[in-house]
Amino acid sequence: MRTQVCIIGGGPAGLLLAQLLQRDGIESIVLERRSRDYVLSRIRAGVLEWGSVEKLREAGVGARMDAEGFVHTGTYLSALNRGFRIDFEGLTGKPVMVYGQTEVTHDLYAARDAAGGVIIDEAEGVHPHGLDTEAPWVTYHKDGSEHRIDCDFVAGCDGFHGVSRTCIPDSVLQTFEKVYPFGWLGVLSETPPAHEELIYANHERGFALCSMRNMKLSRYYIQVPLDHKVEQWSDDAFWDELRRRIPTDVAESMVTGPSIEKSIAPLRSFVAEPMRWGRLFLVGDAAHIVPPTGAKGLNLAVSDVHYLHEGLKSHYDDGEDEGIERYSERALARVWHSERFSWQMTSMMHRFPDQGGFGQKVQESELAFLEMSRAARTALAENYVGLPF
Ligand code: APR
Ligand code: PHB
Repeated sequence: MRTQVCIIGGGPAGLLLAQLLQRDGIESIVLERRSRDYVLSRIRAGVLEWGSVEKLREAGVGARMDAEGFVHTGTYLSALNRGFRIDFEGLTGKPVMVYGQTEVTHDLYAARDAAGGVIIDEAEGVHPHGLDTEAPWVTYHKDGSEHRIDCDFVAGCDGFHGVSRTCIPDSVLQTFEKVYPFGWLGVLSETPPAHEELIYANHERGFALCSMRNMKLSRYYIQVPLDHKVEQWSDDAFWDELRRRIPTDVAESMVTGPSIEKSIAPLRSFVAEPMRWGRLFLVGDAAHIVPPTGAKGLNLAVSDVHYLHEGLKSHYDDGEDEGIERYSERALARVWHSERFSWQMTSMMHRFPDQGGFGQKVQESELAFLEMSRAARTALAENYVGLPF
């Protein structure tokens, strides 16, 4: 087989890139190692920056998001049993969209199918070759045979545990990492949201987050120690701890119910540089990971796709290669802004083992300053709704 762009990974990054490329007449093949059901079963975050909303609309996959998503013009932060609002729209002119990543992925798969996009599921042993030549190719195994795809470029959209990043020589690749000393225990419940907007709660017992998927499906998180296992958390224990950490008026009025999904995720900040080597481009989680506190994971994948799509379009349409030459530089500039913001939100909102009473007081002061300073709230809002592409 032959295509112009071989995309490794059928998550949001790979599917969105394929969709945008096809709309500009650029051929691609997506190689996904899991089954489609597996990919669509993953529970992920649910906040889209406005730039991501506009990019999904540009890709022709915004209809269900616009029909079923929730436009949020602000969010709440709380500490010491009281909350205050960050008015995204009033401070920046932009809102965010609450719409689950799983739904975005569903919509992307539907659009690729409708457009006759080529997605090869359950492709095993995917491996790029000749990335430092002008004629790379990718091999994989399926149905007992080895297959080869010759291409012009390879997009490594295969996530943190993918193969693409390992193809960049150690002498070239630089990585930057921070692992946080706690995780997030997340619960999905068929209950109405506890509040009309998200609540990020700082508490001396640990962080908590009240989010949602729709008016009948809520998503909650509490910070837990890294050595905790999901089995040791009953639903009742989860609800009791969540209610201790959020403002009393919200805790007393919220509706709880059985968890339909419960899992613990570790938190890490990670960046791999460069995001391009020869004919390989790293995109999304393959190149970077953020702690979910800033809701940046999917949104960074979208901005990477934006830069790569622009570069490939210029290459094929105009023979101009500045876009692909500068892809890594442009993508990383925005990646680091999101890494910093996600680290800042995580540092401000979580209880660190070694922070002590002084550290808790400093966090509470940081939140109090946010409440009193429009400038501080504007800075947070600009980062949360998304810096320009
Ligand atoms: N070969 C083929 N496919 C692979 C391989 C491989 N060797 N390794 C991983 N994959 C697939 C995974 O099965 C997954 O479907 O690549 C896809 C990567 O998707 P994501 O991990 O969702 O990453 P990305 O598309 O960059 O989206 C980033 O997803 O994980 C969240 O928080 C993250 O919201 C962010 C978003
Ligand atoms: C979610 O709804 O899953 C969610 C929302 C905001 C975050 C993280 C997760 O910062």
